[in-house]
Formats: sequence, structure tokens, C-alpha cells
Amino acid sequence: MSRLFEPLQLGGLRLANRIVIAPMCQYSAEDGAAGDWHMIHLGHLALSGAGLMILEATAVSPEGRISPADLGLYSDTDEEALGRVLRALRAHSPMPVAVQLSHAGRKASSRAPWEGGAQIPPDAPGGWKTEAPSALPHSPGEEVPVALDRAGLDRVRDDFVRAAERAARLGLEAIEIHGAHGYLLHQFLSPLANERTDEYGGSLENRMRFPIEVFEAVRAAFPAERPVWMRISATDWVPGGWDIEGTIALSQALKARGCAAIHVTTGGVSPRQAIALGPGYQVPFARQVKEAAGLPTMAVGLITEPEQAEEIIARGDADAVSLARAMLYDPRWPWHAAARLGATVSAPKQYWRSQPREYKELFDSARHGQR
Ligand SMILES: Cc1cc2nc3c(=O)[nH]c(=O)nc-3n(C[C@H](O)[C@H](O)[C@H](O)COP(=O)(O)O)c2cc1C
Repeated sequence: MSRLFEPLQLGGLRLANRIVIAPMCQYSAEDGAAGDWHMIHLGHLALSGAGLMILEATAVSPEGRISPADLGLYSDTDEEALGRVLRALRAHSPMPVAVQLSHAGRKASSRAPWEGGAQIPPDAPGGWKTEAPSALPHSPGEEVPVALDRAGLDRVRDDFVRAAERAARLGLEAIEIHGAHGYLLHQFLSPLANERTDEYGGSLENRMRFPIEVFEAVRAAFPAERPVWMRISATDWVPGGWDIEGTIALSQALKARGCAAIHVTTGGVSPRQAIALGPGYQVPFARQVKEAAGLPTMAVGLITEPEQAEEIIARGDADAVSLARAMLYDPRWPWHAAARLGATVSAPKQYWRSQPREYKELFDSARHGQR
């Protein structure tokens, strides 16, 4: 029996298996609004048989976008556009969908990766003035962000709340708050980006304060039976930066406030990061969080092989594996994993005839008619 294909309960949400499609920015929206690309891209991922899909970093305000073409959930137009895509997904896929709510902080106002990813100055077309915990740029020579004052903090927290309310109206099954990869909430956590002298800077408790306030506000704004969790970078990979001890403390604090899981990733806050890359390189961090905080964890990062994923779950390193690039490269990854591991997976009826002869039991919908 495959452990990877066992169901997983996250709060009130049941995943059919433990394969999660990691959030992946598409830099293809118009003023935050999803379009036909999202229909195609999310459409084929929704047919993959994964247990959960997490939508790309979705900005809670225009200035919270990484690039001018980021997905957003800050206007009625954005809400309608995403609603159109979700209706199509739901008509043809049983897969639950979570949204990753995000604010890029000082890493906002940047070009898409295929345009080089550089920061766009505030006075250049498509650019805007960025905001952050402190007036410190991400990289030397970049625009200095505005340090958020009390009113700014309240505004950002309220933007998260309004986006969560939109997510609730859209029937999204879960919210992942983006607290990782050097974006705004991570900037508060890391001493490399946060030099505040008020109650939001200095001690660990102070640096955790704003991310926790945002979590509490989002949790309160979203239906209680639908889970909310956070994606956290477990280390900055820079001496003196945010680390696993802080990650564990934050995870425990979030657990006490109703957090359903932690999606454990690393890095992103400093160009000085020295990442020790390798297959499953972030899995040990997920294990530490799971053990110390007692929360379900999702492990991510260079998980590419079905047997590798199976082992991560079977060993108890994490409760789910989250795949990004492997899912783009092979959107039927969960089908192929199920075939290799002797498990079953949901597939649309239009594709049932593709089931290979040697994997007679692969598509459980073929036996049950529907899920
Ligand atoms: C195209 C692309 C877009 C990404 N966008 C996001 C994002 O929106 N939010 C996020 O937290 N991580 C994002 N990531 C990081 C992935 O979610 C994941 O953590 C990382 O790619 C490592 O997993 P992998 O080895 O399975 O690709 C992105 C990665 C890729 C390749």
C-alpha cells in the first residue's frame, strides 16, 4: 500500500493523496486578473490527480505584486476573472484548490524572470515605489523601500483580509499565506531585512508579530472549516539570518492560533544566500518543524521521483510532498507515480481509455464512475 496515495486531512479539508502542486507564478495576469493562460495552465494541472493545487502567489494589493503581470485578488475584476477559471476547473476536476495570498514587499515592482527579473524603478513604466519593514533594499543599488508605518501595517493587514474574503466567496478550499522566499512577511521575520526599533523589530517575538497578526486576521476572515496555513522559509542560508529555531517558534505560535499546516521551504531574503542544493534538500527542515511543532508539514524542493516522494511520507519526514518544476515538466506526474507505486488516481472520463494495459487498476474513477 502506497503511503503517498493515502488521504490527508488538513483541518476540515480532505486531500485524496499527499501530492501537492506547489504555487508557481505565471506572470501572465492583467492588472491582477487571470486570463486564458490560467485556464490552460491550471486546467491541465487540475487533471493531474494531485491531492491539492495551490494557486500562484496572488497579490493582496497592486503594490504587493512581484511583477506588473502577477495574479491578484484585490479588485472585483480580479475576483470575477478568477471565478471564471475556477468554475471551469470545478466542472471537470474534483481537486481542491488553495490560493497563496502574498505581498512582495521590497521585492515588488520587478520584471518577469524571462525579462531578466530586475527591479523596475518607481518612475519607469510599470514600476512603483516598494514598501517593507525597513528602508533596506534587497540587493545593493536597488531602490530603497518605504518603511511601513502604523497606518501602512494596518492597510496591508486589511488587504490580506479583503483578499481572504474574496477567496471565501470564490469557494477556494484553503488559503496559504506566503511567509517565505524573501517577500514581505519573511522580511519582517528576518533580521537581514528587519531593522525596526518598534514592537515589530528586534527580538524574535517582535519580528514574528506582524506575520502572526496577518495570520490571525486571515484566519478570522475565512470560514472556520476551511484550512489556513503559512509557507515559511526555514532558513535564510546566511549566518545571522532567520533560521530553523525561529521557524519552529513561529510554527508553534501559529499552531496555537489555528494554523492547519506549514509548507516548509527556504531562502529568498538575501542575495548572499548559500543554498546547499540537492535532491530533497529542504526535507530535513520539514521533519524538524513536524517534530517540534506537531503540525502537518508539506516538504518541497527537488522532489522529483515517485519512490523518493513515497519514502518521505513513509519515513514520516513530512505529511505531504509539494512539487513545482516536476509538475510543469510532467503534468501527469501523479498518474505515473501511482502506476509505479501500485496506487490508484483520479482521471477524467475522457481519458480513461489511455490507461495502460499493465496498470489495470490505475484510474479509480474507471471503477467508481466518479469521485
Ligand atoms: C515557475 C515557478 C514559479 C514559482 N512561483 C512561486 C510562487 O508563486 N510562490 C512560491 O511560494 N513559490 C514559487 N516557486 C517556488 C516553488 O513553489 C518551489 O518551492 C520551488 O520551485 C522548489 O520546488 P521544485 O524543486 O519542486 O521546483 C516557483 C517556482 C517556479 C519554478
